[in-house]
Amino acid sequence: MANILLFFFFCLAANDYRVDGTTLPISTTEEDEIKRHLNLINKPPIRSFQTEQGYIVDCIDIHKQPAFDHPFLKNHKLQRKPTFLERRKHAFYYVTNKTLDFVLEKFSCPKGYVPIRRTSKDDLINEIKTTSFAHHHLAQSFPGNHLVAMIMDNREDGYMGVNGHINVYQPKVRKYQMSIAQIAVQNGESNGINTILFGWQVSPQIYHNKLTHVFVLWTSDSFRTTGCYNMMCPGFIQIDPHFTIGLPIINLSTYEGPQFEISLSISQDSQTKNWWLVAQNRHIGYFPAALFSNLSTANRVGWGGRVSGVMKGQSPPMGSGHFPDGDLTHACFIRKISYVVSDGSTEEPVQDVPKLGGDNPQCYGLKYFGFLDPQNRFTLQFGGPGGSCAI
Ligand SMILES: *[C@@H]1O[C@H](CO)[C@@H](O)[C@H](O)[C@H]1NC(C)=O
Ligand SMILES: *[C@@H]1O[C@H](CO)[C@@H](O)[C@H](O)[C@H]1NC(C)=O
Ligand SMILES: *[C@@H]1O[C@H](CO)[C@@H](O)[C@H](O)[C@H]1NC(C)=O
Repeated sequence: MANILLFFFFCLAANDYRVDGTTLPISTTEEDEIKRHLNLINKPPIRSFQTEQGYIVDCIDIHKQPAFDHPFLKNHKLQRKPTFLERRKHAFYYVTNKTLDFVLEKFSCPKGYVPIRRTSKDDLINEIKTTSFAHHHLAQSFPGNHLVAMIMDNREDGYMGVNGHINVYQPKVRKYQMSIAQIAVQNGESNGINTILFGWQVSPQIYHNKLTHVFVLWTSDSFRTTGCYNMMCPGFIQIDPHFTIGLPIINLSTYEGPQFEISLSISQDSQTKNWWLVAQNRHIGYFPAALFSNLSTANRVGWGGRVSGVMKGQSPPMGSGHFPDGDLTHACFIRKISYVVSDGSTEEPVQDVPKLGGDNPQCYGLKYFGFLDPQNRFTLQFGGPGGSCAI
């Protein structure tokens, strides 16, 4: 079980390197590199917005996004929508009455421009430290990293997508801690892992606040030289004029109270092989196929939670902070779990039995209910209070 998890949510090692607040120094050369990188990823905006939480969101020419600076995307032709748009409509269910309001939806960029969260120097310093950590700690279980996941990896012909409605909470974390709920696609082994993780995340280190943010994380080489959160390096191409990666979700679920969820998909276009991110039925944007070294199909898909960072001997809460107990207003859920197979059709785990795993059952749990009921369909719950965990 531990092996499956280690490989699957591999990037768990790549995300946090600080334990009890220790930091790595930044050299002068790195300072210069930071300035150069900031100039590369922060394009001149036609208009900018300051969000209520103090972020700056820039409206950038859709053809001049950072991704187009990527050497592999020199001749990339922008795709405004995936070719599966018509075919896969049925894949997204809309039975929930609870809608989420995203902060950015108050703003709008002019036609031909897309909103991109501006990256600050601090953001980047954290990113660089995170990456250099990843270089040294690849394939190792890292103290303070814990995860629970449900994984499917038993199809010869691979997977083309993963779907689920994730319940949105705001677990209380400390400064150098992180708590995540995610879906994932992955392919490759050891140093050649290609992966895209999509979900929500609380990480004061990355966002400079304790709010819950929509995030994406990717790599094409097990985080050795490629990959980053959100749009902090060239890679992701933003298409949606409103919904921006990295912005906070303002409506949150509470224990036994109203529940808010976000429907998420990572979905491959069978013609272009690009990987699209879909949230609340909006095609936010995509990772071009050319970015990846080995992701023409995925050999694993998964759903689950992850935390990192030990502060004063305590690991942070995951999900709602409560253990799974079958009551969907208690622990964080992922419902309407499904995946896309090689012919483009969406399937549920009716016959396939997923693998379940967690590395620290006294702190975090995962419970898979299979087919729960016609409204929730295939559902799991995960999470827990954290605290003094082993490892
Ligand atoms: C959702 O809406 C339906 C139809 O309007 C209603 O019957 C149901 O009680 C609502 N569910 C919740 C949880 O509010
Ligand atoms: C690509 O991924 C597959 C599935 O994990 C693996 O079998 C294959 O060896 C990988 N290819 C390369 C070139 O790494
Ligand atoms: C979402 O949060 C906003 C801001 O707090 C609030 O005005 C709005 O009513 C909330 N929406 C729902 C459906 O509760």
